[in-house]
Amino acid sequence: MAHVGNNKVYITRKLPGPALEMLQEFDVTLHKRQEPPTRKEILKNVAGKDAILCMLSDKIDKEVMDAAGPQLKIISSYSTGFEHIDVAEATKRGIYVTYTSDILAEATADITFALILACARNVVAGDRMVRQKKWKVGWMPDLLLGQNVHGATIGIVGLGKIGSAVARRARGFGMEILYHSRRRNEAAEQELGARYADLDYLLAQSDFVTIHTTLNDASRHLVNSERLQKMKRTAFFINTARGAVVNERDLAAALKKGIIAGAGLDVFEKEPLGGKSPLLAMKNVVLLPHIGSADRMTRSKMAEVAAKSILDVLAEGKEPDPKFLVNPPAKRR
Ligand code: GLV
Repeated sequence: MAHVGNNKVYITRKLPGPALEMLQEFDVTLHKRQEPPTRKEILKNVAGKDAILCMLSDKIDKEVMDAAGPQLKIISSYSTGFEHIDVAEATKRGIYVTYTSDILAEATADITFALILACARNVVAGDRMVRQKKWKVGWMPDLLLGQNVHGATIGIVGLGKIGSAVARRARGFGMEILYHSRRRNEAAEQELGARYADLDYLLAQSDFVTIHTTLNDASRHLVNSERLQKMKRTAFFINTARGAVVNERDLAAALKKGIIAGAGLDVFEKEPLGGKSPLLAMKNVVLLPHIGSADRMTRSKMAEVAAKSILDVLAEGKEPDPKFLVNPPAKRR
């Protein structure tokens, strides 16, 4: 094996937590600006690298792998989504692709509930009212009346690690839990008290529809105007997964026309959300800047996991932990 110090690693952003320290024995190129590296910078900086530690905002495709060269052994993504990486191409070249798996499931479920509560109970509107000195009367019987969360029905689309963590929280809130996913999960149904439903039924019955699927060809624009029409007019749409699972134009139109009551969004088709987005002016929408996993503990653990996968491959000469490996050996051959 090559001497450890000869290995070159490109890290595309400064990370909270121990990643840099863990990788200090390597020759590390660190992108230091807050803004993501440009395409040109990525293509330049990957040259000759043995490992890339990238973010979900960095597109890692064939051209990047070509620019890196044949010594590239691992692409470790500091994210649970990996649709920004051409996994098939990496697999063909025998390059490991790793991700942070379920490390951020609990944090993302937390922010999902933050959005559910914020939308349903007018948390943001209330804060604005107080700050803008529009709270004139004191306690009022009908001030900012919202929708009950406890006892309401939640429809979870995608019952993976994050969807399940949301279901556990929903159970604590005494909610009726429906879920839809590609495969029925009877063990999870038992554990979480969730009921399987087809998508149309889930949309029609739920007071909160929350998205937890990965983004792929099947889930892109899964939610469109036709599906939004199926929801209750009093229901809220929550998305902490990927923006492109919903057709954002259709969603904005449905919100404007009152087809649904509101939305809580942490993710968008294009990030950052452009200044012209109609969502910005809507009072029935709570918007967050893609911070689903952004608690200090989780982000630090994600950094540790992403760096450890690189250490496994470059320092130990072994496969990354299967839990974090997107393309296990059978798939890489
Ligand atoms: C966040 O969205 C992630 O994929 O880690």
